[in-house]
Amino acid sequence: MLEGKKIVVGVTGGIAAYKAVELVSHLRAARAAVKVVLTRAAQEFIQPLTLRVVAENEVYTGLFGGAEVLPHIRLALENDLLVIYPATANFIGQAAWGLAPDLLSTLLLAFQGPVVICPAMNVRMYTNAAVRENLRRLQERGYIVVPPETGRLACGDVGTGRLPPPAVVAEVIQGALVPKDLTGLTLLVTAGPTREPLDPVRYITNRSSGKMGYAVARAARDRGARVVLISGPTALPEPPGISLIRVNTALAMREEVWKHFDAADVVVMCAAVSDYRPKQVSPEKMKKGPPEITVEFVQNPDILAELGERKRRQLLVGFAAETGNVLAYARAKLEAKNLDLVVANDVRQEGAGFEADTNLVWLVFRDGRFLELPRMDKYQVAHRLLDAILGIWKGGYRE
Ligand code: PMT
Repeated sequence: MLEGKKIVVGVTGGIAAYKAVELVSHLRAARAAVKVVLTRAAQEFIQPLTLRVVAENEVYTGLFGGAEVLPHIRLALENDLLVIYPATANFIGQAAWGLAPDLLSTLLLAFQGPVVICPAMNVRMYTNAAVRENLRRLQERGYIVVPPETGRLACGDVGTGRLPPPAVVAEVIQGALVPKDLTGLTLLVTAGPTREPLDPVRYITNRSSGKMGYAVARAARDRGARVVLISGPTALPEPPGISLIRVNTALAMREEVWKHFDAADVVVMCAAVSDYRPKQVSPEKMKKGPPEITVEFVQNPDILAELGERKRRQLLVGFAAETGNVLAYARAKLEAKNLDLVVANDVRQEGAGFEADTNLVWLVFRDGRFLELPRMDKYQVAHRLLDAILGIWKGGYRE
């Protein structure tokens, strides 16, 4: 999603400055064009040459003395986003008060696109009232501040102040560059598997990792939507800027979906909800007994089908996990559950469906059309799905 984007990475003089090499490398791998600006203090920690090699592009070290004198206005006009990684307390203070003693601070004043600031410093400095106040000022001015992580700091202290890893910052950058075309809409998204208990330590579940549903939630958030994510148990980190509700069973998921349904404009049911649950849940751990046992199952409610019966203005999107006859089954689900759109995936394909980072899907529309997407990252699939949702929504489909 960063392909062709022009990003300036500003590096200030903290011990974490060396991590800028990793961020630049990460952004280059995502095919962004990267230029780097180093403050004088940053050059005490890292050589411009290292960054020039990784960025495969120019590195700027001052207002004067480089090949180009006063390059700040050109850099401001020609680039899409400025990220300060890491941002020291000193730089944050200067920025908060509009001071511009060097190239990076003048660039910040001239820059009119999105600005991402990643503070990194000792916990005592980070929690100092002056730094808190300065960061609040920057946020109020519209800058995106990525909070530092908690852990062991360079000086040996443990606390909040660690620079977040490049992948986290790259996701924030990606989000900042996406058009906010879902602003004003509320999306209710479900993700992950459900767990249906047999006894206090055993359950029936499936292989859903939650990656696809979380990608839909993150992409919608990045496009300005308010997002409620109802998630079965997953190992994924809590996505910032999203109301996350964790559940275990299909019945609990159904209860939460119903709680949030009225406020939703769009519902995307990506969760792999268990169709059945054990009829009896043993209150005690089941003991080993005879060589064969039989477990009876009862059907869970079909949450999506219930929504399809009761929907009013909501746009309803289902997923269909198939192992053959994908389009025919997806169309049958669209009809049976009264949906507006179905995302069909053939979960036997390599790089598709459960657990994979990529997916291979067909978007199946109510009017019989379908769109086959090439294999792509789940976050990209999510954006293509949101494009389709927005198209239906704008077309006044429900009016
Ligand atoms: O989580 P990942 O590892 O990233 O994997 C992604 C995925 C394969 C889980 C996802 O892409 C996907 O296909 N999700 C739907 C899985 C599924 O349950 O499909 P289904 O064909 O059984 O159900 C059809 C639709 O009805 C789904 O939208 C499902 O959420 C919904 N449903 C199903 C059963 C039930 N009791 N209630 C429901 O609401």
